[in-house]
Amino acid sequence: MDFRHQIAPLDALAMQPCDALLVVVGGDAADAALDPLLAEALSDAVAQGDFQFKAGKTVYLHRPAGVKAARVVFAAAGAPSAKSLKAALVAGLGLIKGGGARHLAVAVSGAGPLDASFAESLVAAVHDAVYVYRHTKPSAPPASALAKVSLLCTKPEAKAVAQGLARGEAIAAGVALARECANRPGNHCTPTFLGEQAKKLGKEFGLKVEVLDRKALEKLGMGSFLAVAQGSDEPPRFIVAQYQGAPKSQPPIVLVGKGITFDTGGISIKPAPEMDEMKFDMGGAAGVLGTLRAVAQLKPRLNLVVLVPTCENMPSGRAVKPGDVVKSLSGQTIEILNTDAEGRLILCDALTYAERFKPAAVIDVATLTGACVIALGHHHSGLFCADDALAGQLLEAGRTAQDSCWRMPLDEEYDEALKSNFADMANVGSRAGGAITAAMFLRRFTGKFRWAHLDIAGTAWKSGAAKGATGRPVPLLTHFVLGQAG
Ligand code: BES
Ligand code: MN
Ligand code: ZN
Repeated sequence: MDFRHQIAPLDALAMQPCDALLVVVGGDAADAALDPLLAEALSDAVAQGDFQFKAGKTVYLHRPAGVKAARVVFAAAGAPSAKSLKAALVAGLGLIKGGGARHLAVAVSGAGPLDASFAESLVAAVHDAVYVYRHTKPSAPPASALAKVSLLCTKPEAKAVAQGLARGEAIAAGVALARECANRPGNHCTPTFLGEQAKKLGKEFGLKVEVLDRKALEKLGMGSFLAVAQGSDEPPRFIVAQYQGAPKSQPPIVLVGKGITFDTGGISIKPAPEMDEMKFDMGGAAGVLGTLRAVAQLKPRLNLVVLVPTCENMPSGRAVKPGDVVKSLSGQTIEILNTDAEGRLILCDALTYAERFKPAAVIDVATLTGACVIALGHHHSGLFCADDALAGQLLEAGRTAQDSCWRMPLDEEYDEALKSNFADMANVGSRAGGAITAAMFLRRFTGKFRWAHLDIAGTAWKSGAAKGATGRPVPLLTHFVLGQAG
């Protein structure tokens, strides 16, 4: 998709050469600056009862008289905000994407000056509208004929709009990578495949990428990660990818992503219904690799390290059993009471590994608990962070990226649930507060750096008719990382 900005006055939109014109309208009446031909068409649509200046309302006009574009869509945002403008874009695109238009021009009226955030929203909305998963279904028809999008703006807006488009494109490429990985089934997206994807990114963007195998993990002493991996014939991998945009001496941000390429639950096996969806249990890994891609394209002045422990969680004659005690890389022992609580077991060793980078902050990202889905549903990712400043930055990044998270508690009291008579800790507590006790488990491995945990179990994936990966939290993480540059 080709995105560009174009300086074009709002009062001459009828002359705009394009196949389709999408006009997002804010406020509760037509903007006085709007092209008179379009203003007339719009007021007629209102008079006929086909349009209202209310968020979510749209109207499609085919070849309105005197207008160059064959298709014109008005989409109302109501009171303009970043969120309502994006919703209007999504609604408007819904009327255009399935048609024959190749070149779309987008204009905004009655919403104040255009900013970078709107441009970014446009790129995200277009990519979302046209994405089709094809890897194992090459027969899937394209969602759209769209090939080119022009965002119309004024001269003073142009710089911010161009920046927003560039940032949007980098994030969209990261989101696409994350979606593509998470959508691929477990027999395609294996730990080996994820390792290859990381190597590929390394080649493309000049990153340092190492992929450690089982032997190397044994040598390091990642007993907790290896315990999960031992039940599968599919070999585990540990990905260490580094983007260097600042002097080596500058402490990096470290992102850690859960990379369970299929979660059967292991010996504590999951029920059959919907188990197929556990192919997306590497959504955290996909999210941090996607973020790495976005950051590497935008080249901010900072250092970023991405760590991905990746393996399958399978039952077998060699699989770890409930009650088994393993020794983590940190030296702490863990009684594995439930083999389905495997995410924390692979993450804890990756968190300990992160210490060697003396990080400025470590964020881990994981489809960690069903309990988080129960608590927050599918809108907000769960944010667990004892550091108020870091939590504030992540919440803010989520808001501006329109990929939000919601802060959850992390009080010491919850730690008691993890007591074990046979090891330093158990890997599960009771059902109560399951997302929080999972975070408390991870917290025991994070004493040496500033740390936050994102539980994306409810946000990385959609069930139902639109079943598939969302690419979240790539936008949130990319905004957060960019915000750390000097
Ligand atoms: N990958 C799952 C969590 C999950 C569930 C993600 C639903 C997305 C949708 C995780 O490994 C898991 O099985 N967690 C258990 C933890 C329990 C055994 C303490 C859970 O949530 O049931
Ligand atoms: Mn599990
Ligand atoms: Zn899992």
